[in-house]
This record gives sequence, structure tokens and C-alpha cells, in this order.
Amino acid sequence: MAVETAVGPDEELASAGPTMNLTLEVWRQRDATDTGRMVTYQARDISPDMSFLEMLDVVNEKLTTSGDDPIAFDHDCREGICGMCGLVINGIAHGPERATTVCQLHMRHFRDGDTIVIEPWRARAFPVIRDLIVDRGAFDRIIEAGGFISASTGSAPEANSVPVPKETVDAAMDAAACIGCGACVAACPNASAMLFTGAKITHLGLLPQGRPERYERVAAMVEAMDRLGFGGCTNIGECAAVCPKEISMDTISFMNRHLLASRLGRR
Ligand code: SF4
Ligand code: FES
Repeated sequence: MAVETAVGPDEELASAGPTMNLTLEVWRQRDATDTGRMVTYQARDISPDMSFLEMLDVVNEKLTTSGDDPIAFDHDCREGICGMCGLVINGIAHGPERATTVCQLHMRHFRDGDTIVIEPWRARAFPVIRDLIVDRGAFDRIIEAGGFISASTGSAPEANSVPVPKETVDAAMDAAACIGCGACVAACPNASAMLFTGAKITHLGLLPQGRPERYERVAAMVEAMDRLGFGGCTNIGECAAVCPKEISMDTISFMNRHLLASRLGRR
């Protein structure tokens, strides 16, 4: 295991309050053909108030300054919304805090002197592009397979023109909270995408606008999920345990009920 340079923030930042020194074991992989390896970095004078991604930014700044390749990782909103960030931290997808994306995870949840192991999502359907970045395009293929809904588009209709019971709206909106991060796949020993697909099927299938095509949609999305190399569900529950949006496994039951109805031709 190679040991690389010690890295840390600027002196002004380091003097702002108590800081932490950490050892990082980071997966480095040049591209999809590289076998990859863990590399050790010393991250020094890290503020507990930094987010995990800000800590990696500090490490990368020093690596870049010293002429080394920065660690590649995905991110965009850094507000827990977009689903772009995703790292396995000490063996847990999105790290140790429940219902928290990596970008919303703060260094105060670690202790001075800790060793932190950082790896990419590992699943056949999510090939590594570089370092900690994986290709989650397979999720897009599942969404594409779901097709369109036949409801009219254009300006928003009057809110009360299609009455929907409150509990149905709440369940649909809970399912719609899925941000497509892929943690469920990374955590599942079968690399199953059933929580993600179940969330999409549920949020469209519960609402009147999405009901007309619900049986065709579930059949096509499940077929895509299987074809793209995701595994099946064996009710282990790791997916829901790591989901930053607390998507319920009830969405998988909803999907399975509709898939059965679709296959039996009961409309
Ligand atoms: S179900 Fe949860 S873990 Fe899976 S993609 Fe959606 S938000 Fe991420
Ligand atoms: S960067 Fe958008 S959810 Fe983390």
C-alpha cells in the first residue's frame, strides 16, 4: 500500500479552532481498465465543521499544488438534493450518519486520529470510471424504460381539478424523494436496484396522472433492471438502512404487486 504526501488546509484556516488529523485510505483507479489500489494519505488540520467533500477538497488542493493527481469524486449540489455524491466510507454507503448524503456529512462525526477508508460504489452495473466516480447510467436506462405518462403537459392545472387523498399524496411524495444516488445498490449484497426502481414505480403508480400506464411501466422497468445486471431482492434491508432519503421497502412491495398483476394480465 503506497503512502503519499501529508496534506492539510492553509495556515489561516487551521488556526480558526480545534482541528483533526486523519489517515485516509482512498481507492485510486486510473480508468475502467486499471485494477486499482488503496493509497494512504495523511489529512492534517481538518476542521470538524467541514463537510466530508470539503475535507476531500482540501486534500485535493494540496495534491494539485504538489503536482499529484487529485482524487476524482462526484458531486454537484452539495445540499443532499442531486444524488451525485456517493462514497462508501468505512464500509457504509454515504458514511456513518443515517439519512445523510456524503455532501451533508460533517467531519465532527469523526475523531482526531481516525483512519477513514473511502471507496466507490461497487456493483457490476456501476463500473468505475476513475477513482471514486462510477457510471450510474444504468439508472437512467431504467428510467427511460418507464416511458412517458399520457397526462397532458404544459402549464400546471388547477390544484383541485384532480382530487387525490392526502395519504396517497404523502406516500407518493415520500417515494418521489429518491435522488437516484445508488447507495441502495452499493449496500445490497445482491447489488439490487429494487429500492430505486420501487421508488419510481410507486411515486408514479400512486398518482392518477401515472396510473394509466402503470402495468406496462413496471414490466418494462423491471425487465431493464434485470438486463442491466442488477441483482434480485432477498429482503435483507441494507438498501433502506443506507438510503439518505429513507425510502421505505414498502415501495418494493408495491412494485412486486404491480409486476404480478401485470404478468397475470389483471388490469
Ligand atoms: S432509493 Fe435511496 S439509496 Fe436508492 S437511489 Fe433512491 S435515494 Fe439513493
Ligand atoms: S452533491 Fe448533490 S446530493 Fe450530494
